[in-house]
Order: sequence, then structure tokens, then C-alpha cells
Amino acid sequence: MTQNIVWHSHTLDRAQRESANGHSALVIWFTGLSGSGKSTLAGALEQVLFSQGIKTYLLDGDNVRHGLCSDLGFSEIDRQENIRRIGEVSKLMIDAGLVVLTAFISPHREERQKIRELMEEGQFIEVYVDTPLEVCESRDPKGLYKKARAGELHNFTGIDAAYEATERPDVHLDGSQSVESLIEKLLFALKDHGILPA
Ligand code: ADX
Repeated sequence: MTQNIVWHSHTLDRAQRESANGHSALVIWFTGLSGSGKSTLAGALEQVLFSQGIKTYLLDGDNVRHGLCSDLGFSEIDRQENIRRIGEVSKLMIDAGLVVLTAFISPHREERQKIRELMEEGQFIEVYVDTPLEVCESRDPKGLYKKARAGELHNFTGIDAAYEATERPDVHLDGSQSVESLIEKLLFALKDHGILPA
């Protein structure tokens, strides 16, 4: 579809924006089951980064599905398209010099890998919020697990749709621990990756 469309290189580029911001741009990609704690952790991390003067933006699954992706459901193909769009939006935001935090189930390993490949080396940090299904189900903040178990909701991740874990994510968190301890671990990992100053 990109026939007859020529890429235009603008003079103000990411490097200049990064230098003005005083930090590199990248995406911190949270993945995991519904109720695993992705949005909570991404929100808490954003607060910490923002308070340190880092330019951030949080893209959250439930919110994005009210607008940009309101035409999409939860079939395999719609989820692929959901994640593809978020990947492209994240890339634009990286170009704008931001540290993007995303909180989407993003259940397919292949789709996550495609986004990694869309970015430059070091711009995609995958954080797997590995919370046991029983814990997510006991939290059930939106009552959706209950509906899925009752057969009122189909293709629900963890119940009748698969979640494919990454073997070696950049950061692997046990989501049943407290938010405070997980944020501490995340900050340590980001320093370790050279994303935050040690
Ligand atoms: S993704 O699979 O395409 O990455 P996304 O993160 O955007 O999913 O949306 C997940 C949120 O939508 C869940 O937290 C839940 O609140 C809601 N939801 C509604 N139906 C489903 C479903 N069938 N499977 C998973 N989540 C669902």
C-alpha cells in the first residue's frame, strides 16, 4: 500500500529531541494476563520517571480500545491489528523523543517480536508481568474472568484463548508481589539496562 508514497526525512530528528530531553527514547512494553498488574505497574513507573523529569507517555489497552482501536475485538486477527497499531504509535512517540510505557495483554510472542524488530536496538524493553492465572482470577477487577468462566465471554486470555510467554523477556516480574517491590525491581533493571542513570 506504500506504492507512490515517498518517505520524507525532516530536519528536526529524534537525536535532537533526545538531546533536548536529556534522555533516550524507547518503549517499556508490559505484557501479561488481564489483571496481572500491567496497568498499575506501568502507571506507578510512569509517576517515578515523570518525577525525575523524564518525558513519558502511557498507552493502556482498555483506554486505547475506546478510541484508536475501538473498531477491534478480541479475535486473533483483531488482537494482531491492535498490537500492530500500538507498535506503530509507539514508534512515532519514540521519534517524538518520549519514553513510552504500554500495557496490553499482547498475548502473541510473534507480534511482540515484530514490534521489537520495528524498533532500533535497545528501544524495546519487554516486561513480562508473570502473575499466576489463579491470582489474576481472584483479583478479577472487572468481573471478566467470572463472565468468561460462565461462558458469557469468549476468547478470554488464560481461559479459552492462549497467552504465549516470552522465554527470556528483558524484565521478568512475579506479579503476585507488592507493587512497591516490583517498582523497585523495575527501576533496578532499567538502571542495569543503562536506561536510567545508575
Ligand atoms: S490484547 O490481547 O489485544 O493485547 P488489550 O490489552 O488491548 O488486549 O485489552 C485487554 C483488556 O480488554 C482486558 O484487560 C479486559 O479488561 C478487556 N477484555 C475484554 N474482552 C476480553 C477478552 N476476550 N480477552 C482479554 N481481555 C478482554
